[in-house]
Amino acid sequence: MNKQHARTHYCGELTETHIGDTVTLCGWTHNRRDHGGLIFVDLWDKKGIVQVVLNPQIDQLAHQHAQSVRGNFVLRVTGKVRERPEGMINDKLSTGKVEVYIDDFEILNRSKTPPFSVWEDQEVSEAIRLKHRFLDLRGEMLQRNLNIRYQITRKVRETLDKQGFIEVETPMLTKSTPEGARDYLVPSRLNAKKFYALPQSPQLFKQLLMVSGMDRYFQIVKCFRDEDLRNDRQPEFTQIDMEMSFVTEEELFGLVEEMVCGLYKDILNIEVPKPFQILPYKDAIRKYGTDKPDLRFGLELIDLGDVVAGTSFKVFADVLKSGGQVRAINAKNSTETLSRKVLDDLTEVAKTYGAKGMAWIKINADGLQSPITKFFEQEMLDKLIAEVGGEAGDTIVFIADKPKVVADALAHLRLELGKILSLIDESKVCLAWVTEFPLVEYDEEDNRYVALHHPFTSPLQEDEDKFESAPGDIRARAYDLVLNGNEIGGGSIRIHTKEIQDKMFQLLGIDEEEARIKFGFLLDALQYGAPPHGGIAFGLDRITMLFTGADSIRDVIAFPKTQKATCLMTEAPSEVDLHQLKELKLKYDLS
Ligand code: AMO
Ligand code: AMP
Repeated sequence: MNKQHARTHYCGELTETHIGDTVTLCGWTHNRRDHGGLIFVDLWDKKGIVQVVLNPQIDQLAHQHAQSVRGNFVLRVTGKVRERPEGMINDKLSTGKVEVYIDDFEILNRSKTPPFSVWEDQEVSEAIRLKHRFLDLRGEMLQRNLNIRYQITRKVRETLDKQGFIEVETPMLTKSTPEGARDYLVPSRLNAKKFYALPQSPQLFKQLLMVSGMDRYFQIVKCFRDEDLRNDRQPEFTQIDMEMSFVTEEELFGLVEEMVCGLYKDILNIEVPKPFQILPYKDAIRKYGTDKPDLRFGLELIDLGDVVAGTSFKVFADVLKSGGQVRAINAKNSTETLSRKVLDDLTEVAKTYGAKGMAWIKINADGLQSPITKFFEQEMLDKLIAEVGGEAGDTIVFIADKPKVVADALAHLRLELGKILSLIDESKVCLAWVTEFPLVEYDEEDNRYVALHHPFTSPLQEDEDKFESAPGDIRARAYDLVLNGNEIGGGSIRIHTKEIQDKMFQLLGIDEEEARIKFGFLLDALQYGAPPHGGIAFGLDRITMLFTGADSIRDVIAFPKTQKATCLMTEAPSEVDLHQLKELKLKYDLS
């Protein structure tokens, strides 16, 4: 009983080809059934489940021992693989045609009764699962997701290695890198009252590596952002981060497309066509109301400002007078699906994005149905319907408001309509580069310009003369990669001269002293032969979500945080001892 056999196979690996072999397996008791004389144990390991059989006639002692086995016990078994008797085949298991007849058997460890079984369909709250994450990770979904995540990083490393990139680690205890979120701060014991910031991204270091002549850098790297969390956001997440010297957008796009198509081919066996569509930001907003459109379906936005100019319908007239827009979506063949109730629900959706209402016209076979047609003369109505290509069966939905509200509300209505009308082909993969983002955006609250991407992004050369005259019109050499409506990566060609970098800081209201304090090292480096360079970073967690079909980013991370940025298993963040605070010379209000 105590002589130790080394494992020869994984449980889930056994097939008919092993019939007659003597094997040693190690694993967890998934399930145990006592059928009088025979005890059947489903033994589980990362490769799957196999049935092992203990027969008292073979080994009385082992059989007695087996009677004490409970769920999740850790076992080592040795025995002969045999064909299952007729009628006993389990088609649901890859090992379902065989079983292992045991003649040696050892309990390596016992297990308490777990708070839930990952192998059964049980209603268990996510909080309980997260508290016992080590158990939940035994489940099929998380095992699969973490495997796919690993396959992605393996393939990325392989592709980039072939392209002459090297992986360089950059510091975690560093200075703030502005990516638009709050920093996580770490107090320094040796430098009282001073703090490190955990990196929001390795942005500045990767640019410095280009100045150092590294030429092609990548890193699969943790980033930290203290921001409001959602299902696709974690406070610490992983980027596939890249930077290249002397690179153009075309070259970078080509390289990334090869990498992304390689991932699809290798991991999901899907051929994704190259090159990806290029969609300038302006067109994306005009057609879809968003810079991350889902291109798997149509339903483009149509501007009706010209058509309804001069209308007596007060809502539209007032909006147009104050410089706003009237835009619409024509939902084809929808009059039956879009009942009054559904249209009311859609109006509520529009309101959550700031719209004051949602007007609609249904083109029924027997005429128009709408709360607003009574405000329109026939001629204008005819023009309007012609403009949106309206036909019997269509529903036109309208939003009138400031351009930003119109875009936001219609972008979300478009997605809702896509779902309600079943227009989204889930098997489609639509990848697009969104380009020519505005360099800066005016922040009405703070009365100043802020960088749309980050302050190191280069303006388009032909817009460089607009720094003084029309900063809001400067286009950036920035790009996002959008996959089925999700932003999976973003990057830019960088500013590589001190002159432009100074201009950019000036535009953002960062004076020389502040720039020196925050980014002095970068400004210095730009004066020592910085090559033109650019790069991109992908959200590994988001890519893995899309590859696995996971609904939540927590399902692709081994030990994730909750939406409140806590870890229910380790109970981080937690209070610390007073002496630790003293050592750090930190005081805090205990009230
Ligand atoms: P950016 O801020 O766009 O760019 O980030 C790049 C990608 O990282 C992912 N991401 C996140 N994933 C999960 N949780 C989060 N909180 C989170 N925040 C971002 C997204 C995003 O597309 N330094 C630049 C890149 C560059 O210019 O090269 C940067 O960090 O998928
Ligand atoms: P009212 O005259 O306010 O009752 O509005 C008439 C119709 O116009 C209703 O169906 C409203 O939902 C719709 N509506 C109101 N405000 C807007 C708006 N800003 N954009 C589009 N439709 C609107």
